[in-house]
Amino acid sequence: MTHLRSKTRKAVPACAVALLMLALPGMAQDADEGPAHDDIPTLDDLLDDLDAGDLDLDDLRTLGLAVFSTPFNTYDGLGDGPFDPAETDTATFGHRPTLQGNGLSLRVNGLDAQSCNECHTIVSNRTKPPTLGFAGVGGIVQNAIIMPSLIDVADSFDDRVVFQPGHDPSLPLVFDGVADYNGRFANPPFLFGGGGVELLGKEMTADLQYLLAEARSAPAGTVTLLKTHGVDFGSITSLGGGDVELDVEGIGPEDITGVPAEEVLVVRPFGRKGESFTMRDFDRGAMQFHFGIQPVEVVGEDLDEDGDGVDNEVSVAEMSVLHIFDVTNARPRVRHLGPAAVQGFETFVDIGCAECHHPVKKTRSRKVPLAHPEDPIDPSADVYLRINLVRAGFDPAPGGGVFVPLFADLKRHKMGPGLAETFERGEIANDEFTTARLWGVADTAPYLHDGRATTLFQAIELHGGEAQTARDAFMALSVSQQKKLLRFLRKLKVPKKPNEDLL
Ligand code: HEC
Ligand code: HEC
Repeated sequence: MTHLRSKTRKAVPACAVALLMLALPGMAQDADEGPAHDDIPTLDDLLDDLDAGDLDLDDLRTLGLAVFSTPFNTYDGLGDGPFDPAETDTATFGHRPTLQGNGLSLRVNGLDAQSCNECHTIVSNRTKPPTLGFAGVGGIVQNAIIMPSLIDVADSFDDRVVFQPGHDPSLPLVFDGVADYNGRFANPPFLFGGGGVELLGKEMTADLQYLLAEARSAPAGTVTLLKTHGVDFGSITSLGGGDVELDVEGIGPEDITGVPAEEVLVVRPFGRKGESFTMRDFDRGAMQFHFGIQPVEVVGEDLDEDGDGVDNEVSVAEMSVLHIFDVTNARPRVRHLGPAAVQGFETFVDIGCAECHHPVKKTRSRKVPLAHPEDPIDPSADVYLRINLVRAGFDPAPGGGVFVPLFADLKRHKMGPGLAETFERGEIANDEFTTARLWGVADTAPYLHDGRATTLFQAIELHGGEAQTARDAFMALSVSQQKKLLRFLRKLKVPKKPNEDLL
């Protein structure tokens, strides 16, 4: 395909100064039009320069920030390519139609932005005016509208809008104030502290895989508890001959029939449903979903899978620096707790909030390993860089490791019918979400997976399912006790001036 514009032709030499110049966001383009994002050298080149001292970690973070914040254009491969009427699955990446055939945007199933920064924008919603920055949360207008084929906007009760075959019959199309909808609706969380979360998840996965290997070689009838870092994921029963039976909760797809135990026992902290095992894993999907930008590590080198005339749309090196940016985002902080907030924290523990919102975890290592390619079941495979998280502001723990004050357990929980989604294509139950990490929660309204709670009180009040008892206990507190608990939550702040050191 000779018409392909191969992005690699613009590769720049791996020289620190030139790289930083190119990475500055908002730099004017040449009079000639071209990609908004300049290619960066290969991962090997970057690592060589890092070794030689020509680049340092902040240079790589700056390059990552450029990938995160540059509005990709069609020369970069933005968009899905021309629509193919022969296509059968028009809801998947690379083959989506566009609104009014404008060629570029769809909004209701991705093709909804040009840069990551368009949605992860708000550092604090509590300041007036709001504090803006890179890698923050989004407001409701920044929600992603994920894979619907039906939005009954006018709440119609005739047959103008019908569900796809296979719809949930408990969701009749009636005139009831419910705009029936079979996709997902998700509010953007922030990326702060992501390195600590990823390290913790990888250590937990390694532990679960180790327990699985032990269970496979144990005599039939042996029961192995799946407990790691204080979180209980269920148990494995050894059946003899290397076979096992899993009895798990909060991990793996809803239906684990036929799924290898190794694949089930992968901790997936990212995404509100807990679907991605690393930030890079999430980013691969984000690139395709939001932008129609196809990572080389997904579609292969020199391949124009979406037929938009651009190959190598985002390279391994670009995804790597993006990942480095992700995991070095500063961590949220806990402000000094006065006596009232201390009492609020005690109540938080007493009434059962901390059963899911575990206040703090300690990792074994201080360094988060970054790999390419990534193997979900073996976080130690193909590691190209280990980043010391003390540099990202994590407190070192005595004897090694760092403290991750995340207020979560990296596990999914059933949150009851009130919070359940009506998604038709999911592998995870509609009422299950990964425990929201409460660090930073003082600043990040709106709350819950779709941003339906505009205040902290409402977010708590809307808990159901496994959290019903804790929620009811909160509602039964005196107003003064409730206020103290909320006062404690308001001490959980986002980092100060995140990423401003890179500007
Ligand atoms: C249209 C808005 C939008 C854009 C653009 C966007 N995101 Fe997001 N992001 C979201 C939403 C919404 C979620 C939650 C998704 C979910 O729960 O399934 C999210 C979640 C994430 C997460 C998981 C965070 C966590 O702690 O669970 C990461 C990482 C992330 N985004 C990175 C990116 C990157 C990198 C880009 C650019 C390639 C990007 N996002 C572009 C809206 C957006
Ligand atoms: C059974 C586990 C569980 C228990 C117990 C629990 N939560 Fe949650 N919490 C969650 C999950 C899961 C979410 C995310 C729900 C969603 O995405 O819609 C969440 C979300 C939140 C949020 C919103 C955070 C955000 O950024 O959107 C707050 C605030 C919160 N919980 C506070 C509490 C408090 C206070 C208690 C005790 C009264 C409590 N939770 C008990 C699991 C739990």
